[in-house]
Amino acid sequence: PPRSTLSSSSAASDVYKRQTNKQVLILPGDGIGPEVCNEAEKVLNCVNSSHNLGISIEKSGVGGVAYEEFGKPLPVVTLKAAKVADGIFFGAVGGPEWDNLDYNLRPERALLGLRSELDLFANLRPAILSKYLCDSSSLKTEKVEDLDLLIIRELTGGIYFGEPRGTSDSGDSAFNTMIYSKKEIERIGRVAFETAQKRNKTLCSVDKANVLEVSVLWREVITDISKDYPDVELSHMLVDNAAMQLVKDPKQFDVVVTGNLFGDILSDIAAMLTGSIGMLPSASLNSKNKGMYEPVHGSAPDISGKGLANPIAAILSVAMMLKYSFDLNEVSSSIENSIQGVLSEGYRTYDLEGALEKKLSTSEMGNKIVEKLK
Ligand code: IPM
Ligand code: MN
Repeated sequence: PPRSTLSSSSAASDVYKRQTNKQVLILPGDGIGPEVCNEAEKVLNCVNSSHNLGISIEKSGVGGVAYEEFGKPLPVVTLKAAKVADGIFFGAVGGPEWDNLDYNLRPERALLGLRSELDLFANLRPAILSKYLCDSSSLKTEKVEDLDLLIIRELTGGIYFGEPRGTSDSGDSAFNTMIYSKKEIERIGRVAFETAQKRNKTLCSVDKANVLEVSVLWREVITDISKDYPDVELSHMLVDNAAMQLVKDPKQFDVVVTGNLFGDILSDIAAMLTGSIGMLPSASLNSKNKGMYEPVHGSAPDISGKGLANPIAAILSVAMMLKYSFDLNEVSSSIENSIQGVLSEGYRTYDLEGALEKKLSTSEMGNKIVEKLK
């Protein structure tokens, strides 16, 4: 790019700066992680050169493959690289060969470690049904047509991280602690209200306040801060009912906010409504919008290496990174539009039902999307 002669305070050079020298760290991981990351990287490379974004890409090991090489699922080099990167792209971790490792060596620890070390407390999981995939949804078309909901999951607290945790000395019992501080509830609550303000101005907070003290506090804090967002209509729902409502009438929801464990479960339900868990992207953000982006699906060892994985969740996660961390809304939309274009032509990966004649492998789907982008 031409050297700018403008002063650093001018708007033009701010744009110039914003669009250069961004470092993206890709952590492919295990199972289908590397396969879907390859396709995400193709798409990132494509927009990087066509829009001259100046993004540089690095890779590092994480999960089971990192355990094999370094003896730990989250090696120090990887954590260091993640701390300096502007955006982190995460594939998937885990596999049967590492299932019997000690708790602290299991591949999943890498993901949980990154989330907590980088304070990525706000997990956004949009479930949007493409109008071309109504037939792939687990629900009837009229129940899911135009579905567009966003689950905001608290990601660095709750029972996932609560202490004490462990197994009793005799090994006869085991325990975890579901704990939230007012501060933790408030910060995820504010993200949810602010997001709702930019969407349909409704927010549903999900808890288990009929049984759990931690949920009573959750409900209190969310209700309390709702006074600062008078334009947002707040409702509360118990998690068992929310699970039922998601499969009964999912279009009643717009933004849903909930704790770590409930969000994990509800987002998998929401994923199936969109046709396949291979369609769901996610962003995990800290208070400065630094983020880690990952497909919601796991490492799927049973289909890994066969070209069967759907790369769309990963590619949509690239679009989320461009939008949330790099403020490149138009480039982000162009990726989403290319995906819709490819789906509209009847191309599908193997996880998506319908249109059997146009089945594509993981890399063929990635290539088609890149072709559309050009
Ligand atoms: C997810 C995953 C993770 C979680 C696992 C792999 C630790 O299921 O991101 O939803 O439970 O958060
Ligand atoms: Mn999950």
